[in-house]
Amino acid sequence: MIEGNKVELGKEENLLFDASQISNGLDTDFIGHNINYFDELISTNVTAHELASEGSPEGTAIIADSQTGGKGRRGRSWFSPKGANIYTSVIFKPTISPEKAPQLTLMAAVALAETISISLEGCNVNIKWPNDILVDGKKCAGILSEMKSEKGHIKHVILGIGVNVNFDPLSLPSELSSIATSMAGISGHTISRVSIIQSLYRNLESWYKRYLKEGFSVVKKGWNSKSGMIGQHVRAASASGSEDAYEEGISLGINDNGALLLKKNEGDIIEIFAGDVMPIFS
Ligand code: BTN
Repeated sequence: MIEGNKVELGKEENLLFDASQISNGLDTDFIGHNINYFDELISTNVTAHELASEGSPEGTAIIADSQTGGKGRRGRSWFSPKGANIYTSVIFKPTISPEKAPQLTLMAAVALAETISISLEGCNVNIKWPNDILVDGKKCAGILSEMKSEKGHIKHVILGIGVNVNFDPLSLPSELSSIATSMAGISGHTISRVSIIQSLYRNLESWYKRYLKEGFSVVKKGWNSKSGMIGQHVRAASASGSEDAYEEGISLGINDNGALLLKKNEGDIIEIFAGDVMPIFS
């Protein structure tokens, strides 16, 4: 990692960020065949829900250059300045039961981690449960998945993906710059958002097809191989976010249900289904 590197945003790259640039040379079967590009949106996830409900097909992609109300997990907001990063949502219409929808988020985390590690060769890219992508220990990308279901059937799943590509991590408030980074901050140079989006759509499609064909076990294997916390002592916050409700133990990775397994001091193994997980350094 290049510490304290000042990243100049590439003006030329900004000009080239539009739907036709992304479509040009995109070799997927369905993801991104229908691209809806906007200079600014409240949230790509909100627009994706609207388009999916109006009948847009599986694989439809929504991309914004900036978001005024970018949403993160657990009610947080997602920093979404213009001209720098990737904010995209993809519509999926899988014929799986609604209970299995979280598996798609874990699948997307594997595809996203793969995309970032291909571009940042030699860097330490891993997944922090359930779907944060860390590079050299700092958050570089995240996924917000949202589902609409009716009468026990999935109408659609939106996978919303934010990747910190070209923003200068040093421009963040200090409390964020100690925990967040960007691909440019790591590599020291501006990175083409177009090629990262194309690679992301390709990997997402390939993992989605594998998941539908081979089942969750293939995702579980991919996720566990990219988890940075297996064997580490961790604290898992409760889904309610309450400070005093948490579990501690050794992370064993995810199981067939997509839950994180924690081995407690007493030897019991418990499943964690929601919340944030932090390493405990003793
Ligand atoms: C997280 O908290 O880690 C999830 C962040 C997800 C951000 C992306 S940006 C594109 C999509 N639209 C949103 O409003 N959020 C997701």
